[in-house]
Amino acid sequence: MQDYIAYNSRMWDAWSENHNNWSIPLTSEQFQQAKNSPIEIVLTPTKNVPLSWFEGIGSDVLGLASGGGQQGPVMAAHGYRVTILDNSMRQLQSERMVADRENYPVLALQADMTRPFPFKDESFDRIIHPVSNCYIEDLQPTWNECYRVLRHGGVMMAGWTNPVAYMFDDEALDNRSVPLTVRNKLPYNGRLEVEKGAELSLDTGYQFSHTLEEQIGGQLKAGFLLKDFYEDTDPNAHLGEYTSFFAATLAVKL
Ligand SMILES: C[S@@+](CC[C@H](N)C(=O)[O-])C[C@H]1O[C@@H](n2cnc3c(N)ncnc32)[C@H](O)[C@@H]1O
Repeated sequence: MQDYIAYNSRMWDAWSENHNNWSIPLTSEQFQQAKNSPIEIVLTPTKNVPLSWFEGIGSDVLGLASGGGQQGPVMAAHGYRVTILDNSMRQLQSERMVADRENYPVLALQADMTRPFPFKDESFDRIIHPVSNCYIEDLQPTWNECYRVLRHGGVMMAGWTNPVAYMFDDEALDNRSVPLTVRNKLPYNGRLEVEKGAELSLDTGYQFSHTLEEQIGGQLKAGFLLKDFYEDTDPNAHLGEYTSFFAATLAVKL
Protein backbone atom coordinates (compact mmCIF):
# COMPACT_ATOMS: atom_id res chain seq x y z
CA MET A 1 0.00 0.00 0.00
CA GLN A 2 1.17 3.51 -0.84
CA ASP A 3 2.27 5.44 2.27
CA TYR A 4 -0.12 8.36 1.95
CA ILE A 5 1.88 10.59 4.33
CA ALA A 6 5.05 10.14 2.25
CA TYR A 7 3.14 10.81 -0.96
CA ASN A 8 1.66 14.04 0.45
CA SER A 9 5.10 15.11 1.62
CA ARG A 10 6.49 14.73 -1.92
CA MET A 11 3.46 16.54 -3.29
CA TRP A 12 4.05 19.48 -0.94
CA ASP A 13 7.71 19.56 -1.98
CA ALA A 14 6.53 19.95 -5.57
CA TRP A 15 3.86 22.55 -4.72
CA SER A 16 6.37 24.51 -2.69
CA GLU A 17 8.89 24.39 -5.53
CA ASN A 18 6.22 25.87 -7.80
CA HIS A 19 5.17 28.43 -5.17
CA ASN A 20 1.49 27.85 -4.66
CA ASN A 21 -0.36 30.35 -2.40
CA TRP A 22 0.65 28.53 0.74
CA SER A 23 4.34 28.42 0.04
CA ILE A 24 5.38 31.93 -0.99
CA PRO A 25 7.91 33.08 1.59
CA LEU A 26 7.85 36.61 3.03
CA THR A 27 10.04 39.07 1.15
CA SER A 28 12.54 41.28 3.00
CA GLU A 29 10.25 44.23 2.51
CA GLN A 30 7.28 42.33 3.95
CA PHE A 31 9.41 41.24 6.91
CA GLN A 32 10.38 44.85 7.68
CA GLN A 33 6.74 45.88 7.29
CA ALA A 34 5.68 43.11 9.67
CA LYS A 35 8.05 44.48 12.33
CA ASN A 36 6.29 47.84 12.23
CA SER A 37 2.67 46.75 12.07
CA PRO A 38 0.26 44.66 14.14
CA ILE A 39 0.52 40.88 13.59
CA GLU A 40 -1.07 39.89 10.28
CA ILE A 41 -1.24 36.17 9.59
CA VAL A 42 -3.85 33.89 8.07
CA LEU A 43 -4.94 30.38 9.03
CA THR A 44 -7.47 30.24 6.18
CA PRO A 45 -7.42 31.76 2.67
CA THR A 46 -8.28 35.40 3.29
CA LYS A 47 -9.18 36.63 6.79
CA ASN A 48 -6.44 37.82 9.12
CA VAL A 49 -6.41 36.22 12.55
CA PRO A 50 -8.06 38.71 14.96
CA LEU A 51 -5.50 40.60 17.05
CA SER A 52 -7.32 39.56 20.24
CA TRP A 53 -6.13 35.99 19.53
CA PHE A 54 -2.54 37.10 20.27
CA GLU A 55 -3.30 38.38 23.73
CA GLY A 56 -1.59 36.59 26.59
CA ILE A 57 1.90 35.98 27.76
CA GLY A 58 4.65 33.69 26.51
CA SER A 59 6.77 33.80 23.41
CA ASP A 60 7.34 30.16 22.42
CA VAL A 61 5.31 29.46 19.33
CA LEU A 62 4.93 26.24 17.36
CA GLY A 63 3.93 26.58 13.70
CA LEU A 64 2.30 23.21 13.11
CA ALA A 65 2.26 22.19 9.43
CA SER A 66 3.09 25.82 8.87
CA GLY A 67 6.28 25.69 6.80
CA GLY A 68 6.81 27.87 3.76
CA GLY A 69 8.04 31.08 5.39
CA GLN A 70 4.71 32.80 5.94
CA GLN A 71 3.39 32.70 9.51
CA GLY A 72 6.79 31.92 11.11
CA PRO A 73 8.60 35.08 9.94
CA VAL A 74 5.72 37.36 11.00
CA MET A 75 5.78 35.85 14.48
CA ALA A 76 9.58 36.18 14.62
CA ALA A 77 9.30 39.83 13.54
CA HIS A 78 7.13 40.32 16.62
CA GLY A 79 9.70 38.81 18.96
CA TYR A 80 8.35 35.26 19.25
CA ARG A 81 10.71 32.27 19.40
CA VAL A 82 9.58 30.16 16.47
CA THR A 83 9.61 26.40 15.95
CA ILE A 84 8.14 25.01 12.74
CA LEU A 85 7.07 21.38 12.35
CA ASP A 86 6.24 20.40 8.77
CA ASN A 87 6.54 17.24 6.71
CA SER A 88 7.83 18.91 3.52
CA MET A 89 11.58 19.49 3.32
CA ARG A 90 10.99 22.13 0.65
CA GLN A 91 8.59 24.09 2.84
CA LEU A 92 11.14 23.94 5.66
CA GLN A 93 13.89 25.19 3.33
CA SER A 94 11.81 28.31 2.64
CA GLU A 95 11.32 28.78 6.36
CA ARG A 96 15.09 28.58 6.98
CA MET A 97 15.85 30.77 3.98
CA VAL A 98 13.79 33.65 5.42
CA ALA A 99 15.25 33.18 8.91
CA ASP A 100 18.84 33.22 7.59
CA ARG A 101 18.16 36.23 5.40
CA GLU A 102 16.54 38.21 8.24
CA ASN A 103 18.96 36.89 10.84
CA TYR A 104 16.65 35.38 13.45
CA PRO A 105 16.81 31.84 14.88
CA VAL A 106 14.23 29.25 13.85
CA LEU A 107 13.98 25.56 14.66
CA ALA A 108 12.49 23.96 11.52
CA LEU A 109 11.85 20.24 11.91
CA GLN A 110 10.65 17.69 9.42
CA ALA A 111 8.05 15.50 11.13
CA ASP A 112 4.67 13.96 10.48
CA MET A 113 2.00 15.57 12.65
CA THR A 114 0.08 12.29 12.93
CA ARG A 115 3.01 10.89 14.99
CA PRO A 116 4.04 11.88 18.53
CA PHE A 117 5.60 15.36 18.30
CA PRO A 118 9.36 15.56 18.98
CA PHE A 119 8.85 17.99 21.90
CA LYS A 120 8.61 17.68 25.67
CA ASP A 121 5.33 18.28 27.48
CA GLU A 122 4.44 21.96 27.91
CA SER A 123 7.06 23.37 25.53
CA PHE A 124 4.97 26.11 23.86
CA ASP A 125 2.72 29.05 24.68
CA ARG A 126 0.87 29.00 21.40
CA ILE A 127 0.33 26.79 18.39
CA ILE A 128 -0.42 28.21 14.96
CA HIS A 129 -1.95 25.53 12.78
CA PRO A 130 -3.06 26.79 9.35
CA VAL A 131 -5.35 24.70 7.13
CA SER A 132 -3.50 21.40 6.73
CA ASN A 133 -5.38 18.68 8.56
CA CYS A 134 -7.17 17.88 5.29
CA TYR A 135 -3.94 15.95 4.50
CA ILE A 136 -4.26 13.54 7.43
CA GLU A 137 -6.74 10.79 8.09
CA ASP A 138 -7.21 10.71 11.85
CA LEU A 139 -7.23 14.02 13.74
CA GLN A 140 -7.46 12.94 17.35
CA PRO A 141 -3.79 11.96 17.91
CA THR A 142 -2.75 15.38 16.54
CA TRP A 143 -5.18 17.31 18.77
CA ASN A 144 -3.94 15.27 21.75
CA GLU A 145 -0.30 16.07 20.94
CA CYS A 146 -1.13 19.77 20.59
CA TYR A 147 -2.65 19.71 24.05
CA ARG A 148 0.35 17.87 25.50
CA VAL A 149 3.01 20.26 24.16
CA LEU A 150 1.16 23.44 25.17
CA ARG A 151 1.71 25.08 28.54
CA HIS A 152 -1.28 25.76 30.77
CA GLY A 153 -2.80 29.06 29.67
CA GLY A 154 -1.50 28.41 26.15
CA VAL A 155 -3.63 28.65 23.03
CA MET A 156 -3.98 26.79 19.75
CA MET A 157 -5.27 28.65 16.70
CA ALA A 158 -6.30 26.20 14.00
CA GLY A 159 -7.65 26.70 10.49
CA TRP A 160 -9.55 23.87 8.80
CA THR A 161 -11.75 23.11 5.84
CA ASN A 162 -15.49 22.79 6.28
CA PRO A 163 -16.32 19.22 5.18
CA VAL A 164 -18.95 20.52 2.75
CA ALA A 165 -16.12 21.30 0.27
CA TYR A 166 -15.48 17.58 -0.17
CA MET A 167 -19.01 16.78 -1.35
CA PHE A 168 -18.35 18.26 -4.75
CA ASP A 169 -16.58 17.21 -7.88
CA ASP A 170 -13.00 18.35 -7.28
CA GLU A 171 -12.66 19.92 -10.70
CA ALA A 172 -15.69 22.10 -10.06
CA LEU A 173 -14.24 23.61 -6.91
CA ASP A 174 -11.92 25.90 -8.87
CA ASN A 175 -13.36 25.83 -12.34
CA ARG A 176 -16.51 27.92 -12.72
CA SER A 177 -17.41 26.31 -16.03
CA VAL A 178 -17.77 22.87 -14.36
CA PRO A 179 -21.13 22.46 -12.54
CA LEU A 180 -20.93 21.93 -8.80
CA THR A 181 -22.14 18.36 -8.79
CA VAL A 182 -22.47 16.46 -5.53
CA ARG A 183 -20.14 13.51 -5.93
CA ASN A 184 -18.92 12.26 -2.55
CA LYS A 185 -20.53 11.07 0.64
CA LEU A 186 -19.01 12.58 3.75
CA PRO A 187 -16.66 12.03 5.41
CA TYR A 188 -14.52 11.84 2.29
CA ASN A 189 -11.47 9.59 2.64
CA GLY A 190 -8.95 9.99 -0.20
CA ARG A 191 -6.95 6.95 0.89
CA LEU A 192 -9.95 4.63 0.70
CA GLU A 193 -10.97 6.17 -2.64
CA VAL A 194 -7.52 5.40 -4.08
CA GLU A 195 -7.74 1.86 -2.70
CA LYS A 196 -11.05 1.53 -4.54
CA GLY A 197 -9.37 2.65 -7.78
CA ALA A 198 -9.67 6.44 -7.84
CA GLU A 199 -6.88 8.19 -9.71
CA LEU A 200 -4.09 9.56 -7.52
CA SER A 201 -2.60 12.82 -8.70
CA LEU A 202 0.01 15.29 -7.57
CA ASP A 203 -2.61 18.00 -8.05
CA THR A 204 -4.52 16.96 -4.95
CA GLY A 205 -2.70 14.09 -3.24
CA TYR A 206 -4.50 12.26 -0.49
CA GLN A 207 -7.10 14.46 1.15
CA PHE A 208 -9.69 13.85 3.83
CA SER A 209 -12.77 15.66 5.04
CA HIS A 210 -13.54 15.31 8.71
CA THR A 211 -16.77 15.58 10.58
CA LEU A 212 -17.37 18.68 12.71
CA GLU A 213 -17.33 16.25 15.61
CA GLU A 214 -13.72 15.37 14.73
CA GLN A 215 -12.72 19.00 14.17
CA ILE A 216 -14.49 20.67 17.09
CA GLY A 217 -15.37 17.73 19.32
CA GLY A 218 -11.83 16.37 18.89
CA GLN A 219 -10.29 19.53 20.30
CA LEU A 220 -12.68 19.39 23.27
CA LYS A 221 -11.95 15.70 23.76
CA ALA A 222 -8.21 16.48 23.90
CA GLY A 223 -8.94 18.81 26.83
CA PHE A 224 -9.17 22.20 25.13
CA LEU A 225 -11.87 24.78 25.72
CA LEU A 226 -12.96 26.77 22.69
CA LYS A 227 -12.76 30.51 23.06
CA ASP A 228 -13.47 31.93 19.62
CA PHE A 229 -14.37 30.95 16.07
CA TYR A 230 -14.69 32.49 12.61
CA GLU A 231 -15.49 31.37 9.09
CA ASP A 232 -13.74 32.27 5.88
CA THR A 233 -14.13 31.61 2.21
CA ASP A 234 -12.01 31.46 -0.91
CA PRO A 235 -13.33 34.14 -3.28
CA ASN A 236 -11.44 32.56 -6.19
CA ALA A 237 -13.14 29.22 -5.76
CA HIS A 238 -16.38 28.28 -7.49
CA LEU A 239 -17.89 27.03 -4.23
CA GLY A 240 -16.92 30.36 -2.62
CA GLU A 241 -19.72 32.01 -4.62
CA TYR A 242 -22.21 30.00 -2.57
CA THR A 243 -20.81 29.50 0.90
CA SER A 244 -17.88 30.00 3.21
CA PHE A 245 -16.04 26.72 3.54
CA PHE A 246 -13.13 27.35 5.89
CA ALA A 247 -13.16 27.87 9.64
CA ALA A 248 -10.75 28.78 12.41
CA THR A 249 -10.93 27.98 16.10
CA LEU A 250 -9.14 29.47 19.09
CA ALA A 251 -8.68 26.80 21.75
CA VAL A 252 -7.27 27.26 25.24
CA LYS A 253 -5.50 24.81 27.54
CA LEU A 254 -6.55 25.96 31.02
C1 LIG B 1 -1.73 24.84 3.28
S1 LIG B 1 -0.05 24.53 3.80
C2 LIG B 1 0.06 25.53 5.24
C3 LIG B 1 1.38 26.26 5.40
C4 LIG B 1 1.51 27.65 4.97
N1 LIG B 1 2.69 28.28 5.54
C5 LIG B 1 0.37 28.60 5.16
O1 LIG B 1 0.53 29.74 4.81
O2 LIG B 1 -0.71 28.31 5.66
C6 LIG B 1 -0.18 22.88 4.45
C7 LIG B 1 1.11 22.39 5.07
O3 LIG B 1 0.85 21.16 5.72
C8 LIG B 1 2.00 20.36 5.63
N2 LIG B 1 1.65 18.97 5.92
C9 LIG B 1 0.83 18.15 5.22
N3 LIG B 1 0.75 16.94 5.80
C10 LIG B 1 1.54 17.00 6.92
C11 LIG B 1 1.85 16.06 7.95
N4 LIG B 1 1.36 14.83 7.95
N5 LIG B 1 2.67 16.47 8.95
C12 LIG B 1 3.19 17.71 8.96
N6 LIG B 1 2.93 18.64 8.00
C13 LIG B 1 2.10 18.30 6.99
C14 LIG B 1 2.48 20.61 4.20
O4 LIG B 1 3.83 20.23 4.00
C15 LIG B 1 2.24 22.13 4.07
O5 LIG B 1 3.37 22.87 4.40
